[in-house]
Amino acid sequence: MRKIIITIDGFSSCGKSTLAQQLARKLNYVFIDSGAMYRAITLFFLRNHVDWNNSEEVVKALEQINLDFHYNLETGKSEMVMNGEDVEYLIRDMLVAEKVSEVAAVKEVREFAVKEQRKMGKKKGIVMDGRDIGTTVFPKAELKIFMVADPVIRVERRYREMLEKNPNVLLEEVKDNLQMRDYIDSNREFSPLRQAKDAFVLDNSKLTTEEQLKIALKLAKEKIATVEEAI
Ligand code: DC
Repeated sequence: MRKIIITIDGFSSCGKSTLAQQLARKLNYVFIDSGAMYRAITLFFLRNHVDWNNSEEVVKALEQINLDFHYNLETGKSEMVMNGEDVEYLIRDMLVAEKVSEVAAVKEVREFAVKEQRKMGKKKGIVMDGRDIGTTVFPKAELKIFMVADPVIRVERRYREMLEKNPNVLLEEVKDNLQMRDYIDSNREFSPLRQAKDAFVLDNSKLTTEEQLKIALKLAKEKIATVEEAI
């Protein structure tokens, strides 16, 4: 069967990763969470006191970063590994969330991440989620999904997620962080968050994860069939 590239873009906490992961499992594709890469880079910068407004420092730091995804057989999830260290848990911290949009807006950081992401898509058969995957990373992807959800629901989702890790987290804090990231992600100079013209818009405000998977799976199967026919 011919493999395709599926991109899932949208604002934070729209459920992109959940859908991308489930879809990849169903199709036997590789799931790539591109946001995890920006988060890992942010963690490296914070730990090593890299000033991301200084391009020379940024370039030097990026040379020392090696990013990889490891599949965890126990959890069935893929985990971010930076320079041999599993950083999956650390990159979900509020400290990283507070700075990641700033770091992801840096030109050199984006060039580095996009290059890695394109390498991962060489053999196709991937589902990658992020902000610029259907517009910049894979503008010719066979299937592009743009996810949207009611902002109130997004805040609640992220709050519940953060609460599991930190019982002291405040709803207001989570709301402010999401609003700030939405603003920076959509207004930055280099590949801002945009809906690709040929993307299918999926509003999951009122959908269960099973329902959204069913819709996406149908779209994917239709696309795969079209690609097969064209051979
Ligand atoms: O999907 P996420 O919330 O884990 O992403 C973290 C941050 O990384 C997000 O605020 C914006 C940035 N990001 C990006 O700029 N481009 C991507 N393709 C993915 C994420």
